[in-house]
Amino acid sequence: MDIFEIDGPVRLSGSIDVAGSKNSALPILAAALLAPGASTVSNAPDLADIRSLETLLESLGAKVLRNETGLHVDASVIDNPVGDYEIVRKMRASICILGPLLARCGKVKVSMPGGCAIGDRPVDIHLRGVKALGAKIYLENGYIVAEAPAGGLVGTQIFLGGPFGSTVLGTDNVMMAATLAKGTTVIESAACEPEVADLANCLNAMGAKITGIGSPRLVIEGVKKLNPIKYSIIGDRIEAGTFMVAAAITKGRLKINNCDLDHMLAVTDRLRFIGAEVEKTKTGCEVALDGPIHPADITTQPYPGFPTDLQAQFMALLALGEGNSVITEKIYPDRFMHVAELNRMAANLRKEGPSVIVAGVEKLIAAPVMASDLRASAALVLAGMAAQGMTTVQRVYHIDRGYHKIEERLNTVGAKIRRKNI
Ligand code: EPZ
Repeated sequence: MDIFEIDGPVRLSGSIDVAGSKNSALPILAAALLAPGASTVSNAPDLADIRSLETLLESLGAKVLRNETGLHVDASVIDNPVGDYEIVRKMRASICILGPLLARCGKVKVSMPGGCAIGDRPVDIHLRGVKALGAKIYLENGYIVAEAPAGGLVGTQIFLGGPFGSTVLGTDNVMMAATLAKGTTVIESAACEPEVADLANCLNAMGAKITGIGSPRLVIEGVKKLNPIKYSIIGDRIEAGTFMVAAAITKGRLKINNCDLDHMLAVTDRLRFIGAEVEKTKTGCEVALDGPIHPADITTQPYPGFPTDLQAQFMALLALGEGNSVITEKIYPDRFMHVAELNRMAANLRKEGPSVIVAGVEKLIAAPVMASDLRASAALVLAGMAAQGMTTVQRVYHIDRGYHKIEERLNTVGAKIRRKNI
């Protein structure tokens, strides 16, 4: 089991490259299942979650090869459309094979994803969507079984909103299934995240006919078949946002490359409000903060609102604010596993229902802390770089799920992080 030892405080400065988006790569790799033949996905990040999906794709019958030209998926033969529990339970995003396999094979079994540290991960809206396309759905020993009608899926109008707004992977699943359905499908209350748009653009490049990309109303005209694709993934806006906070929390200055600020307006709005300088550059942005960290209120919402995946990172930053901030989580109400760990570092955070009251403190004090989920672990690394002393973060496998060699990359811009195997 790996741990991080993080010496603080440090001041980061220099230039850092953002990897391809994990949350684009996962559904786009699943989309390769829609087309018999060999697809290539470039700029796919090398992460534990991506490797989990690679294993899953191979278990379905696909062949997967990663080399310097990208991730190659040959989906010519899919002879086992079953999403195995042992793989799905480790990575809930595996549910994104449901739509493509249903459309390609007519029948699919996927283990129910189960919950995780950030809360329940229901898939009821996914199932509502594919059922509307004509699929028969039933549960069997913890597996979802979905069967298309003999004549194939049929396009229709579907509302995909839920109690927390739209669903990212639910939109992905229904959109992928609809590409090969007969007739036209309209998805109302579709998720508008850039990663959903990236998937839609990839599907259109494969021969799909999707309009309304980036809007809450997607129109998909079914086609007979899709072709394999060579496609490059967008940059990871959540990794970019994590690096922006790294510059701010250490009172440093970072050039952050391969990210699109147009996808991050809610994030840069809060950063500037907090007192950071955010300048657009040719390949991304430059972020610096050398004055006080002003308090700010943040509420997470579906895109284009403030992303839930940056909530923990901004809490670490605001823990050092000059005053009180309120952070409200509207997507995953239980996504506060980082609160107790940050309080171990002398933060002053108090949970009040779906919100956390952040009473800013002058400094954080290093402590042994425990990672619990991907973004909470990122918040602990950020806090450790600003804290006085040496912070140890346990269970860093959580962070390896979503950030490639984060310690090596942060060390190139001034961090002092050691990975140790204990
Ligand atoms: C995607 O998860 C991301 N993962 C998550 O990022 C991200 O936090 C989330 O979207 C919200 O932006 C990937 O893209 C691989 P949702 P997803 O369906 O699609 C509820 C990370 O750190 N809901 O948009 O699974 C759900 O419980 C990960 O990179 C239902 O009620 O999230 C949540 O409260 C974590 N029924 C809300 O909707 C459903 O059928 C949004 O979930 C589906 C979802």
